[in-house]
Amino acid sequence: MPLLKKLDTTLLKSFVSNNLLIQILFGSQTGNAENLARVIQLNLLNEGIESLVSGFDDHAPESVSDMEYLIIVTSTYGDGEAPDNASEWHSYLKFSEGLELGHLNFAVLGLGDTYYPHFCQCGKDFDEFLSAHGAQRMLARLDCDTYYEEQYGPWLNELIAVLKNKISA
Ligand SMILES: Cc1cc2nc3c(=O)[nH]c(=O)nc-3n(C[C@H](O)[C@H](O)[C@H](O)COP(=O)(O)O)c2cc1C
Repeated sequence: MPLLKKLDTTLLKSFVSNNLLIQILFGSQTGNAENLARVIQLNLLNEGIESLVSGFDDHAPESVSDMEYLIIVTSTYGDGEAPDNASEWHSYLKFSEGLELGHLNFAVLGLGDTYYPHFCQCGKDFDEFLSAHGAQRMLARLDCDTYYEEQYGPWLNELIAVLKNKISA
């Protein structure tokens, strides 16, 4: 099925009751980032914040222009590369000239392993590329090691606080 280059934001907003369209995209090779993305979605829901979760490869990278709130959870593979399902987005954001994402609010959580020289490089790249295209960073990127389940809690709490502020604004 061809990926949609534009998102129908009105339709997507009908799936969530907040006034914010929050999308969680995961880049994952063996499931850790996907699982964590779903845990983050459940934690947000527990706080009354609805969001949509999907893999990067469920959306054409051009659809980033229609997104409003983007939370990225991604691992790193190879020698500091993107996992397969995030590689198209990685290239698009790296090489697109003149892409203007000033309307976009984002947060990045990277999963990796300090054993590798390019620790959490894919998360670092997404964070840098989005900022370079003018997107607004909602909170500092978190780079997690293999014991990520013990590391993401404070970052998630901060994310929840930021989103609650945006919803009540
Ligand atoms: C072959 C291989 C290459 C990896 N390369 C890197 C790397 O360059 N940098 C890094 O920080 N982690 C690297 N990792 C660690 C993974 O990013 C980490 O295990 C992550 O939790 C996997 O998440 P996933 O299941 O969502 O893909 C690598 C793991 C494997 C198996």
